[in-house]
Amino acid sequence: MDIFSVMTMVACMLPSLRISVANDSINVSKSMTDGESLVSKGGKFELGFFSPGNSQKRYLGIWYKNVPNQTVVWVANRENPINDSSGILTLNTTGNLVLTQNKSLVWYTNNSHNQAQNPVAVLLESGNLVIRNEGETNPEAYLWQSFDYPSDTFLPGMKLGWNLRTGHEWKLTAWKSPDDPSPGDVYRVFKLYNYPELYVMKKTKKLYRFGPWNGLYFSGMSDLQNNTVHSFYYVSNKDEIYYAYSLANDSVIVRSVTDQTTSTVYRYKWVVGEQNWRLSRSFPTEFCDTYSVCGAYGNCVSSTQPQACNCLKGFSPNSPQAWKSSYWSGGCVRNKPLICEEKLSDGFVKFKGLKVPDTTHTWLNESIGLEECRVKCLSNCSCMAFANSDIRGEGSGCVMWFGDLIDMKQLQTDGQDLYIRMHASELDRHKKNMPVVAAFTSAAICGVLLLSSYFFCRSRRRNNAATNCWKDKSEKDDNMDLQAFDFPSISNATNQFSESNKLGQGGFGPVYKGMLPNGQEIAVKRLSNICGQGLDEFKNEVMLIAKLQHHSARRALLGWAKRLEIIGGIARGLLYLHQDSKLKIIHRDLKTSNVLLDSNMNPKISDFGMARTFELDQDEENTTRIMGTYGYMSPEYAVHGSFSVKSDVYSFGVIILEIISGRKIKEFIDPHHDLNLLGHAWRLWIQQRPMQLMDDLADNSAGLSEILRHIHIGLLCVQQRPEDRPNMSSVVLMLNGEKLLPQPSQPGFYTGNNHPPMRESSPRNLEAFSFSEMSNSVLVAR
Ligand SMILES: *[C@@H]1O[C@H](CO)[C@@H](O)[C@H](O)[C@H]1NC(C)=O
Ligand SMILES: *[C@@H]1O[C@H](CO)[C@@H](O)[C@H](O)[C@H]1NC(C)=O
Ligand SMILES: *[C@@H]1O[C@H](CO)[C@@H](O)[C@H](O)[C@H]1NC(C)=O
Ligand SMILES: *[C@@H]1O[C@H](CO)[C@@H](O)[C@H](O)[C@H]1NC(C)=O
Repeated sequence: MDIFSVMTMVACMLPSLRISVANDSINVSKSMTDGESLVSKGGKFELGFFSPGNSQKRYLGIWYKNVPNQTVVWVANRENPINDSSGILTLNTTGNLVLTQNKSLVWYTNNSHNQAQNPVAVLLESGNLVIRNEGETNPEAYLWQSFDYPSDTFLPGMKLGWNLRTGHEWKLTAWKSPDDPSPGDVYRVFKLYNYPELYVMKKTKKLYRFGPWNGLYFSGMSDLQNNTVHSFYYVSNKDEIYYAYSLANDSVIVRSVTDQTTSTVYRYKWVVGEQNWRLSRSFPTEFCDTYSVCGAYGNCVSSTQPQACNCLKGFSPNSPQAWKSSYWSGGCVRNKPLICEEKLSDGFVKFKGLKVPDTTHTWLNESIGLEECRVKCLSNCSCMAFANSDIRGEGSGCVMWFGDLIDMKQLQTDGQDLYIRMHASELDRHKKNMPVVAAFTSAAICGVLLLSSYFFCRSRRRNNAATNCWKDKSEKDDNMDLQAFDFPSISNATNQFSESNKLGQGGFGPVYKGMLPNGQEIAVKRLSNICGQGLDEFKNEVMLIAKLQHHSARRALLGWAKRLEIIGGIARGLLYLHQDSKLKIIHRDLKTSNVLLDSNMNPKISDFGMARTFELDQDEENTTRIMGTYGYMSPEYAVHGSFSVKSDVYSFGVIILEIISGRKIKEFIDPHHDLNLLGHAWRLWIQQRPMQLMDDLADNSAGLSEILRHIHIGLLCVQQRPEDRPNMSSVVLMLNGEKLLPQPSQPGFYTGNNHPPMRESSPRNLEAFSFSEMSNSVLVAR
């Protein structure tokens, strides 16, 4: 045995050779040397000098007195070890503990802000080393306590979180190694987001997320409930935010440790009979605990073996290829992109049993409930989801998520409800009772997207005109918020502009049908004659449409005054088309989704893809290609292909009834009868209770007689025979109350049964555009 081994042995044996001072405290007149120790009153903990693992360096620390395999729970001089046994701990008159080696400072406490009178340092039975004034029992008045400076071990009564008054953080940092208690780079920490949550981090990287506290447990760890050994609790007030736990039986020994090499949190319980630590819980527990393993909108399903990622319903893999090979981190994308700018066009789908997403970008208000939360979230386009912040009982509080939703997990038991923003078409069809004006305005936006969202400008010849064209475009782009696509992606989407994708030929270029990788159908206009005639008009159109899409989101339900104003605006726009413009224009596809509302809620008629110009003396035309949208098409057009200004009037009548009833003709179902919206309105009319068509009886921003007049006019417009319907100039006079109203007769289509199958017109129905039609694409009602 060489001299070195002997020294090691001696060092290891030191604790048992120590002469215990059999005291739990030191005061100003008494210091503690290496070899001496303090023992807490009940004998659970011991404070003294030790050497960890194979190290010979000396540290001041706290361990369990009765656990034979020395288990250290706290270290004072973590970063500044003493290289021999000459360390001395003293308490000075200012109430600070000072650790010195040969009179040089090794470590000290820092309570300069507090006044000390007869200070004493006491090792409490909880394992907390405190400095307090003699006789002081109020923990709030402690001058200093080791629980405020945790190492890697979380003991009952310790806090993990933040003192908001002082800005002091309680966090748990792993030892570098079993031989070295200096701080490693793995730590357990509370992130002070609006909705705070607990993470295991490595440097700045999030490794594992416990989830935010939901009143009962951390969102991802429902097993924290109903624990017979520990009770876990979370405190959040203006002074503090922290997580802690206590024991049902104080003589039980448990600890929770953050480990560097495995980046894992272990919870152990001391089993006296076995004289051993038994592992009772570790985190992470499973594959699904890995932070963001499924990427955005991915949901890790922990009940399958092996555990795997799913896309949430309504979402598909971002990269299907990678997904199939179990590379999930690319996440998922929406099947139907949000329309977003229009708050009434989206809704929420409830997902159950989840660990809620990462809360980095959240907003919290604990005093409002789910319904107000929904309204708030709906009104902000970047709000992607909401939930109760506290799920106890009926649930309370409001948390909203902004930006992509990441790191969700489908729990096997418990879990929370999360309401995720979805395109209206993804909403549960059976939920008919959504505010129906919503449906109306949402449709307005859909119609435009088709035509407008994607445009590009491209040259076939490399000439100056082409260069200017690009420049011009990018300058203009500054004042609008359009999504731009590069040429290759548009080319791919349209199958390299294949002939089979061609929808028609317009005045300045062909129109192609295409599909984006996320499944969204688009129509692409390709400019054939670069930057020549048509480009300005084209850009103007795109800009107008872009502006129209950007509704402000401040609006709630539309009041009656506004609705009637909108009806009047559409009527004037249609009158302009029919007789005030130089040409007589039949729109042929007038429907709510082709009526856009600008920020002042002024309606604009849009989408003239099917419009026909008539000679001013021409009244009627027949076509064998019947296009348009069922529900809005008049009987003579839908059945015989005969269209005229009166077929537009019919469509307008449908729109009036939709706006008044807040119901969409396509989706109208009434439990009491088999009639469609028109039949329903007619039935109420002949039963002399037309006001029951109104969907909002509370708002009195317009007179009842005025609203009834609108219903009356709507019914006149949808009459079976075209010659019975008023023309638009009569309609405008009627709306203004300047014309007597005849009694309406039965509407054209009035039952659901003899109605042709209803569906939206698809891009394939777009017919050739002519230049004059395009430049008229957006009409402003006067
Ligand atoms: C002591 O407190 C002061 C002021 O709060 C701080 O700047 C300093 O870093 C602290 N020193 C130690 C060793 O904690
Ligand atoms: C507390 O635990 C100790 C040791 O396990 C046991 O002897 C004692 O009966 C327990 N006390 C209670 C009240 O459960
Ligand atoms: C929470 O909502 C209530 C009710 O709307 C409001 O009075 C309060 O100011 C809100 N608190 C915060 C922090 O926004
Ligand atoms: C939406 O919420 C975000 C995050 O709270 C905020 O920055 C933004 O201003 C809000 N937008 C609107 C229109 O209220």
